Amino acid sequence: MSTDVTTAQNIDTLFLEQRRYPPPPEFAAQANAQPDIYDTDLETFWAREARARLSWFKDFDTVLEWKPPYAKWFLGGKLNIAYNCVDRHVEQGRGDKVAYFWEGEPEDDRKEITFAQLQRDVVRFANVLKALGVKKGTPVGIYMGMIPELPVAMLACTRIGAPFTVVFGGFSADSLSGRLNDMECELLITQDEGWRRGNRVSLKATADAAMAQAPTVKSALVVRRTGGNVAWEDNRDHWYHNHAGEVSDDPASCPCEAMDSEDLLYLLYTSGTTAKPKGIVHTTAGYLTGVSTTHHYIFDVKPDSVYRCAADIGWVTGHSYIVFGPLCNGTTGVIYEGTPDFPDKDRWWSIIERYKVDILYCAPTAIRTHMKWGPEYAERHDLSSLRLLGTVGEPINPEAWIWYRDHVGGGRTPVVDTWWQTETGAIMITPLPGITTLKPGSATKPFPTIDPVVLDEQGNEVPAGQGGYLAIRKPWPSMLRGIHKAHDRYVETYWSKYKDMYFVGDGARVDEDGDYWLLGRVDDVMNVSAHRISTIEVESALVDHPKVAEAAVCGRSDPQTGQAIVAFVTLKGGDPGSPAMARELRDHVGKRIGKIASPANIVFTPELPKTRSGKIMRRLLRDVAENRPLGDTTTLADAAVVDEISRRAKEDSGKDEG
Ligand code: PRX
Repeated sequence: MSTDVTTAQNIDTLFLEQRRYPPPPEFAAQANAQPDIYDTDLETFWAREARARLSWFKDFDTVLEWKPPYAKWFLGGKLNIAYNCVDRHVEQGRGDKVAYFWEGEPEDDRKEITFAQLQRDVVRFANVLKALGVKKGTPVGIYMGMIPELPVAMLACTRIGAPFTVVFGGFSADSLSGRLNDMECELLITQDEGWRRGNRVSLKATADAAMAQAPTVKSALVVRRTGGNVAWEDNRDHWYHNHAGEVSDDPASCPCEAMDSEDLLYLLYTSGTTAKPKGIVHTTAGYLTGVSTTHHYIFDVKPDSVYRCAADIGWVTGHSYIVFGPLCNGTTGVIYEGTPDFPDKDRWWSIIERYKVDILYCAPTAIRTHMKWGPEYAERHDLSSLRLLGTVGEPINPEAWIWYRDHVGGGRTPVVDTWWQTETGAIMITPLPGITTLKPGSATKPFPTIDPVVLDEQGNEVPAGQGGYLAIRKPWPSMLRGIHKAHDRYVETYWSKYKDMYFVGDGARVDEDGDYWLLGRVDDVMNVSAHRISTIEVESALVDHPKVAEAAVCGRSDPQTGQAIVAFVTLKGGDPGSPAMARELRDHVGKRIGKIASPANIVFTPELPKTRSGKIMRRLLRDVAENRPLGDTTTLADAAVVDEISRRAKEDSGKDEG
C-alpha cells in the first residue's frame, strides 16, 4: 500500500471544520427517511425495500446467499428492469408524466419525454436491436453522448435481457476497443457526432477506429444526432432511423424478458492498479433495489420532484442516478447534453430555473469550477425551486460545500455528500437529509444496514479520530458480483487484505460522533475531476510513445480538479525534452486513453529515482509533485525539480518503499 493514510494531507483542515447544520425541522417532518430507518436488520430491510419498490414477475424466496467473496440477492425472483423503469408507470396511469426533460447543447434544442413516449421509444429500439440479431444474453457496447437515445438504448437492452457496457463518450478508440474486446460485444450502439462547447465531436469516427480492433463486433447501430458526415461500412453499419420506421413500438410486440435476479445487467469498466481496466459486474435485482432505495431516501424524492443529476451517463453515477434509480422510482429527470459554459457560464442555472429543479446532484469539481467563475452566474436565475443538493465522486472541501449551499441552495438546502464507487453500485455513506446533522466535508453516516469499518494495516479497528483503511463487513444488494473474467483479480483487489471484508481502496477517519471523513485513495488510483484514473494506465500510455524511455505518474492536489496528473518522463538517448515534446506526449495520452487522462504537468528528468532493487520511488515523486509548485500547465525540465529528485534519491538510496 503506497500512501500513508494517517498523514493524508487533508486531515488537518478537516479536523478544524466545526460547522454543523442540523436538518431544518420542516424538512425533517416531511422527509422520506425517518429516524427508525436505521432500526431494521439487513435482510428484513432489503427484502422490504425490494418488494415495496420493484414489481416482480415472480417473488424471490431467498433474500441473501453470502459466500464470501460473492453475494447473491433475491434468489428465485424474476423481474425485468425496463418493465420496472418504464412500463409499469404507464400501466399504473402515469404515462403522461415526464420521464426526462432533455436539453441539447444548442439552445432551443429541447424535448419532453413522457413515460408513455419513453415506453414507445424503448420498444422500438429493442425491436431494432432484435432485428439486428440481439437476443437475451448478447453483449452490446454503447458509446454515446448525453442524448435521449442513450438511456433508451440501455433500457432496450434490459428489455431483451442483453447485457451491455456503456463507454464514456470521451474515451479514446483504444479504451473503447479494449472494453468491447473484454466483453466480446457483438453490436455497438453509437451516434454520428455530439455537441461539446459548440463543437462537433465525432463519436462514429472513434467508434470506427475501435471496431477495427474489435473483431467480435459484427454490426454498429448509429443514431443520427448532428447530421454530420460520417464514414460508412455498408455491411456493418446501420442507421437507427432507417430501421426504426420498419418496426413496431407497441409494447406487445416486444414483451419484457423475465430475468433472474442474478442475471448480468451490465459491466462498467473502471481503472484499477494495473494498465487494464476492470469490468465491474452488476446484476439485476439487487442493483435495482439498491439504486432505487438510496435514490428515494437520500434525495428525498417526491412524486412531483424534478431531479437533476449532472453526471455523464457513461459513469456509474449516471447509470445509477440518472437512469435506473430515478426511473424505477418514476421520477422526472433533466438531462443536458453539453458543457456548463455554453453559450455562457450560467447554463446550469438556466436549466434549474426553466424546469424548476428541486434536487441537484453533481461533483465537487463542478462546484469549484462555478466558484471560480463567481456567484453572479447563479444570481442571474431564480433557483428557489431547489430543496436539496448532493455531491459525489471525490472529497468535497468545506469551502466548496458552503459555497454550494449558500450560492446555489440559497443558504437553506441540506447538502448530502454521498460516498460510493463503481463497485458499490449505489450510495454507501451519506447523510439522510431529514435526519443527519451535516458537517461540511464529511459524508457522515453509513446508509442503513451498510457496515463500514476503519482498520489499520493489521486489521485492527482504529480509534475515533485516527485515519485508516476503509472496509465493509456485510454484503449489500447492489455490490459488484465480481470482475468480468477475472476471479483472481477480484479476490486479490477487494478481498485479500482483510478476511471476508470488502477492501474499498480509500482512506477514512471516523470522528467522535461516528461521522466518516473520506481521505482519498490509498492505491495507485488518482481522482481527477471526480474520475478515476490509474497511474499505471497513464504510464503505459506514455512509454508506448517511441521517444519515451521511462515514465512515472502520480497525482498532486489541485484546487480545481481535486487531483491533477503529474508525469515524470525520461526520454530516450538523453533527449532533454521540449515544450513541443510535452505537448506531443499529452496528446499521445489523450489519444491512448482519453483527454481526461492527459497529464497536467510533464517533468522531463534524465533519470527516475529508483530503489536498490530497481523500483521507482513513487512516494518520493509524489512528494516532489505535491510540494513543488509545478504550475498549471506543462512544465519542463525544471532544473530545481530535477535536482531535488536526484538529491532526495541519493538521501533515500538503499531504502525500499515496500
Ligand atoms: O475515492 C473515492 C471517490 O471516488 C472513488 C470511486 O470512484 P468511481 O468508482 O469512479 O465512482 C465515482 C462515483 C460514485 C472512491 O473510491 N469518492 C466518491 N465519492 C466520494 C469520494 N471520495 C470522497 N467523498 C465522496 N463523497
